[in-house]
Amino acid sequence: MNKETGPLPFDKENIPRHIAFVMDGNGRWAQKRGLPRTAGHSAGSESFHKAAEILAELGVEHMTVYAFSTENWKRPLEEVSAIMGLLEKYLRRSIRELVENNIQLDFWGDLSPLSPKLRKLIDQTDELSKQCTGMQVHVCLNYGGRDEILRAARALAQDCLEGRLSPEDIGEKELEGRMYCHDVPPPDLLVRPGGEMRISNFLLWECAYSEFYFTDTLWPDFGREEIYKAIAEFQKRNRRYGGLSR
Ligand code: IPE
Ligand code: IPE
Ligand code: MG
Repeated sequence: MNKETGPLPFDKENIPRHIAFVMDGNGRWAQKRGLPRTAGHSAGSESFHKAAEILAELGVEHMTVYAFSTENWKRPLEEVSAIMGLLEKYLRRSIRELVENNIQLDFWGDLSPLSPKLRKLIDQTDELSKQCTGMQVHVCLNYGGRDEILRAARALAQDCLEGRLSPEDIGEKELEGRMYCHDVPPPDLLVRPGGEMRISNFLLWECAYSEFYFTDTLWPDFGREEIYKAIAEFQKRNRRYGGLSR
């Protein structure tokens, strides 16, 4: 790991427990360089790997990344195939390194339409990750915030139908217990590089009280300095959760 030695621009005792990233801007990063969009996705996967190492080093407990949305299937088949191919390549090449850094990886989303090869790699990753006790990385793959809530609603309906639950007993805990995010604290900070100021169907339930940080920097350029800036900005925020300032 390439650790920073200079003074930190933020208080290291007040690091967000959970940081989520919309890894956006890969295509534009490549286009600016006259490269195919897939070159941007490849650079984006390296950016992800570095960011995970930096966050783990800072003591962040959870990192959630948006890798492929339920809407990204609308892209040309070649781009979708290239993204899936890069994911396979990344898992094959880098999972051991993550494990050496005690970083666990899991996947949020509907994995059923993915290729058997990719699903097998995901299973192997889950298996290898079990021995890790450090930062948890949640990779959102064929993930949609609405889809996550919809699936939980369906599971609740099924439980009611089969007599395991009564509708009047359904609260936030019961719904959340059936979502990918169960047992994970909500993101304190949600970062979107790439210049767009929207949520694009990411973590709709989880982000109720997250602090948002938007930047024009494209994801493949989003490195240590950018991570530090986002955390420093987060520490200036006054989180009230609907109450009053302390
Ligand atoms: C994000 O980068 C990666 C995925 C959606 C898979 P984009 O591919 O959306 O990059 P831009 O936004 O077109 O630059
Ligand atoms: C969000 O980026 C999805 C991922 C980064 C995986 P998009 O590029 O798909 O979002 P829009 O289309 O700009 O809203
Ligand atoms: Mg985009």
